[in-house]
Amino acid sequence: MHPNYVRIFDTSLRDGEQAPGASMTSAEKLEVARTLARLGVDVIEAGFPAASPDDLAAVQAIAAEVGQTPVEGRPQAEPPIICGLARCTRGDIETAWQGVKGAKRPRIHTFLATSDIHLKHKLRLSRPEVVARATEMVAFARSLCADVEFSPEDAGRSDPLFLYEVLEAVIKAGATTLNIPDTVGYTLPDEYGAMIAGVIAHTPGAKDVIISTHCHDDLGLAVANTLAGLRAGARQAEVTLNGIGERAGNASLEELVMAIRTRGEKVGLHTGIDTPQLCRASKLVSRVTSYPVPPNKAIVGANAFAHESGIHQDGMIKNAQTYEIMRPEDVGATQTTLVLGKHSGRNAVSKRLGELGYPLEGEALARAFAEFKKLADRKKAVHDADLIALASDERTAPPELWVLQDLQVVCGTTGLPTATVRLRGPDGKSHVHSAVGTGPVDAAYKAIDQLVATPVQLLEFVINAVTEGIDALGTVSVRVRHDDQRSCHGHGADTDIIVASAKAYLAAVNLVLSREPAAPVHAQKSAVPAEVPVS
Ligand code: KIV
Ligand code: ZN
Repeated sequence: MHPNYVRIFDTSLRDGEQAPGASMTSAEKLEVARTLARLGVDVIEAGFPAASPDDLAAVQAIAAEVGQTPVEGRPQAEPPIICGLARCTRGDIETAWQGVKGAKRPRIHTFLATSDIHLKHKLRLSRPEVVARATEMVAFARSLCADVEFSPEDAGRSDPLFLYEVLEAVIKAGATTLNIPDTVGYTLPDEYGAMIAGVIAHTPGAKDVIISTHCHDDLGLAVANTLAGLRAGARQAEVTLNGIGERAGNASLEELVMAIRTRGEKVGLHTGIDTPQLCRASKLVSRVTSYPVPPNKAIVGANAFAHESGIHQDGMIKNAQTYEIMRPEDVGATQTTLVLGKHSGRNAVSKRLGELGYPLEGEALARAFAEFKKLADRKKAVHDADLIALASDERTAPPELWVLQDLQVVCGTTGLPTATVRLRGPDGKSHVHSAVGTGPVDAAYKAIDQLVATPVQLLEFVINAVTEGIDALGTVSVRVRHDDQRSCHGHGADTDIIVASAKAYLAAVNLVLSREPAAPVHAQKSAVPAEVPVS
């Protein structure tokens, strides 16, 4: 590997998923992992297997599929490394190994805090006890897996001398990557760079392992700190798509990669990321986590390449370099292409979906094509973004226990907003109900609640237009919670936003029901294992 190659370690599925309410289903995680592999990510942190049986199953599924298959046309000849997180305990490490061992290149990532604040108030361990536990657990992880990463949590606020001591011990115990987390996003770029330089200079054995950055964005400095760490000698960067993550999030993959690419001559580094796929990957993560991308977000925001002022537009017409430091196509932010219409056939749709990275087959293709036809009847032009919205729904669709058959709403400035909903139930029969609400969406949700008879609390409702124009396809993402269970997401796409809203709600409710023991129509509540907090 070239000495200036930066390994991109994506933790959207682990640290990213720790963002409040960003939990993903196993199908969604697999979809994100496939996208990360196509993007050229070197390491995918697929999850925290000890957190719950669902997390373990998702990591195993990713290891078995994405961790086994090299992606055609990518510079990396091997499939990505699949990594699972573990606290420094035998149980966690064994479970992480169960999660990743099906991958061709598995990695166990274990962590233990090293700052005095964490030692005193959280771990209640002395420094020698921390050294002993980290050494023992890294050696144990190494007895299972040849690739072991160790993170001294809260390194950013740790005594550097103690940090070197712990790191030296875990290198001797077999760690192959040392990750240096600024867990609380406290450091400034010069401090973080100096910390990485200090680790490399003062830790015996550090030059024989990979040093990694892991920066949080509490002060908005995560990407700047990561770059400073890389320039000081780190060669792995831990990042997430859209910068999602605990609290203010992690360093954003797309921002870091484009900074390295755009200022390559200055920083002298490079990555293996196929940057034209960035916007698509960002959209997928935004959709499955229901975290909208702000329009002014660097690289992937809707306005990242929009020029509003007359002076800027004039400059752009004369030469795009006047106001653009990157080409939109380099990050996949090209204008949406008009590709298909109502006369397009199934083969054309299937071919275009494949080109867009959403190959569908069999019944999934049949369903997506049927949706495409309905859309093409209502919308003059079907754009790539529309197709992606339809295909994404298909690829991450929850089980269809209740299916929307019909929806009619009456609303306006006078009268009571009323919705009549007809659903096909798990019993195969049609069920109809009408309800009054504060608006058409509320009325539709109340009618669905009555039919499904599984009370859920609506936690989030996000609506977006996929393309521009009055006939744009609207996508709705909702997050609901049933009793004390983990929250469930649902997505719906339609040219009618009330219909999209009903589809999204029903998808979330179906997911709630599918997590419960089966019952003919109305399912019973089940206990979901508690989530394990990690910082
Ligand atoms: O921020 C952090 O310290 C972490 C570790 C678990 C690596 O996410
Ligand atoms: Zn973190």
